[in-house]
Amino acid sequence: MTDLIVLREDLEEHIKQGELEDKGPTHQAQAWLRAVQEIESRAADFRVSFQQRGASSEGSSWRSSYKLGCEAAECLKEVQRLKTQKNNLLPQLIPAPPPAVVPQPISSASIVDAEKTLSEIRSLLEDNEAPVIGIYGLGGIGKTTLLKAINNEPASRFDLVIWVTVSNELDILKVQEDIAVRLGYSRPGKGQGQTLLAHPTDRVNTLLSALSRRNFLLLLDDLWEKLDLEAVGVPFSSSFRNGSKVPLLNSESSWTLFCEKIGKGEDQWNDLSIRSLAEAVCQKCGGLPITLITVGRAMADGTTHGEWKEALMALKGIPVELGDMTEVLILLEFSFDRL
Ligand SMILES: Nc1ncnc2c1ncn2[C@@H]1O[C@H](COP(=O)(O)OP(=O)(O)OP(=O)(O)O)[C@@H](O)[C@H]1O
Ligand SMILES: [Mg+2]
Repeated sequence: MTDLIVLREDLEEHIKQGELEDKGPTHQAQAWLRAVQEIESRAADFRVSFQQRGASSEGSSWRSSYKLGCEAAECLKEVQRLKTQKNNLLPQLIPAPPPAVVPQPISSASIVDAEKTLSEIRSLLEDNEAPVIGIYGLGGIGKTTLLKAINNEPASRFDLVIWVTVSNELDILKVQEDIAVRLGYSRPGKGQGQTLLAHPTDRVNTLLSALSRRNFLLLLDDLWEKLDLEAVGVPFSSSFRNGSKVPLLNSESSWTLFCEKIGKGEDQWNDLSIRSLAEAVCQKCGGLPITLITVGRAMADGTTHGEWKEALMALKGIPVELGDMTEVLILLEFSFDRL
C-alpha cells in the first residue's frame, strides 16, 4: 500500500507541475487517481475492522475472521492491479482545453447605469434568431466596457467566449489568429503548439470546422468596417442581424460617475454654490462616460469656486446635447489642458 501511495503522490505532483504549462491529467490518469483514493479508504476501513476484531465475541468469530481475510485478499489484488496499471498510464498529461472565458480587465472602478443595456444585449444573445448583434453608439459611450462585461459574465451559456479587438485597420489574418489562439492553437513563432496553416483556404476551413463543433460567442470590439465572417472562417447560418444602441447616461448617473472621478461623495459638497457650478460642468459632458471621466478627473480634489467658474466658462460653447465628436474633443482638450 505504501508503494501505491508514493505512486499517487508522484502523479499528483506531476499534475501540479503540468498545470504550470497549461496541461491537465488524461481521463485515464484521473480514473486511476480515483481508484487509488477508493482503495486507500477501503484499506483504512479494513484496518479499523481488523483492530476491532476481538473487541466483541462476534468480532472474533471464525466467520468474521474469514470475511476480513477475503477483504484483505481483494484489497491486495486491487493494490497490485493499480501498481501495474500506473506503468501503462502514458501520457499522463495532455494540453488542457482552452478556458471558456478569458476575463477582460475593465478600467472603470464601477460601471454606472449599464444594467438596462446589458440585459437588452443578454436577451438578444438568448435569441437564436439573432446570430449577429451590433452594439453601437458615440465614441467613448461605453461599447467596449459593455462588451467586456458580457465577456466576463460568470455563468455564460457559451462553452467558448472569444474576444477579438479588430481596430481601425481590419487585418483578417490577425482576427483568424486571435480566434485560433482561443481554440488552443499557438501564434506563429510563439508557443510550442500547433499553429494555423499558412494557406488562406486551409485557415478558413480549420476555423470553420473547429468553431462549428462549439457553442461559441465571438465578441468583435472596435469594428469600423464590414467584416465578412465567412471569409474569416466563422460559421453562421443566417444573415439576420439585430442591434443595441448604447444610450447616454441620464443626469443622475452622470452625476454619480462625475463625483466618483472627482473623488467626492454625494454628501461631501459643503459649498452649495460650488456644487451647482460642478453640476453645470457635469451637464456639459452630455452623459458620455469618456467626457465625464476625463473632465471629472481633471477637476479632481480641492478645486476652488473660481476654478469651477473658469471651467464652466471654458465650456460655455458646448450645447446641452452633444451634437458631434467635435464637442467631445473640446471637452477632452479642456481636460488635457488642465493636466
Ligand atoms: N457605464 C459606465 N460607467 C462607468 N464608466 C464607464 C461606463 N461606460 C464607459 N465607461 C468608461 O468610459 C471610458 C470609455 O468607455 P469605452 O472605451 O467602453 O467606450 P467606447 O464606446 O468603446 O469608445 P470607442 O468608441 O472610443 O471605442 C472608459 O474609461 C470606460 O471605463
Ligand atoms: Mg471601444
